[in-house]
Amino acid sequence: MNLVLMGLPGAGKGTQADKIVAKYEIPHISTGDMFRAAIKGGTELGLQAKSFMDKGELVPDEVTIGIVRERLSKDDCVRGFLLDGFPRTVAQADALEGILKELDKQMDFVINIEVDKEILMERLTGRRICKDCGATYHLVFNPPAEEGVCDRCGGELYQRADDNAETVQNRLDVNMKQTKPLLDFYNEKGYLRNINGQQDINVVFGEIDELLGGLS
Ligand code: AP5
Ligand code: ZN
Repeated sequence: MNLVLMGLPGAGKGTQADKIVAKYEIPHISTGDMFRAAIKGGTELGLQAKSFMDKGELVPDEVTIGIVRERLSKDDCVRGFLLDGFPRTVAQADALEGILKELDKQMDFVINIEVDKEILMERLTGRRICKDCGATYHLVFNPPAEEGVCDRCGGELYQRADDNAETVQNRLDVNMKQTKPLLDFYNEKGYLRNINGQQDINVVFGEIDELLGGLS
């Protein structure tokens, strides 16, 4: 099962990705998570990515494409993969076509989670993440049982550095510009499936699950 998950910042990609990979047992490949791990580890990649991420800009294509090529070549992708947050530009989508061809893999679906932009600011500024297991919460829409504490592992919850109102606004502007041509690209290829992301988290997953059930 070879999948791409698309959607504007805050659409619910990470939330749905957790559920998809738990059920279908494919690796979750999030370029955002890879960059954040590199920043935390103080690597060269982290240094390259940080200045762009702090401003809400995209990390340059050549850097991003390079890490995805390397990741998709790993053994655990033999049974499939879920790409989250990649591709984000037509250049990245073109590169992905080439990588899949090299690896003799075929795309199944590009799942696009649609949410009105007015809702996304509230979702992102209210998001909290577990420091230990990465579980995602929302202060209003998906609160933990105890304030500031992860339900799953008891870890401390924190706010992502790019989830302040000013950076969120720039992330939304930057991504909205890139999205339309990317959706056209995948629509023409017949891979695109749109999902209404303005429903309850479990309802959104139910629709994705129904789509994927047809593949296995
Ligand atoms: P990345 O980490 O990919 O962030 P993003 O695209 O901005 O998306 P988010 O992770 O913020 O949102 P999400 O859609 O996963 O939403 P979530 O499920 O958490 O990228 C970060 C940065 O890295 C980029 O800005 C860029 O600099 C760089 N980067 C990454 N990939 C790149 C690429 N390919 N090229 C270049 N640069 C790249 O949900 C959000 C909140 O809403 C949560 O609190 C959640 O609980 C809540 N929520 C989710 N679903 C629902 C629902 N149905 N109803 C109510 N609340 C909900
Ligand atoms: Zn946790």
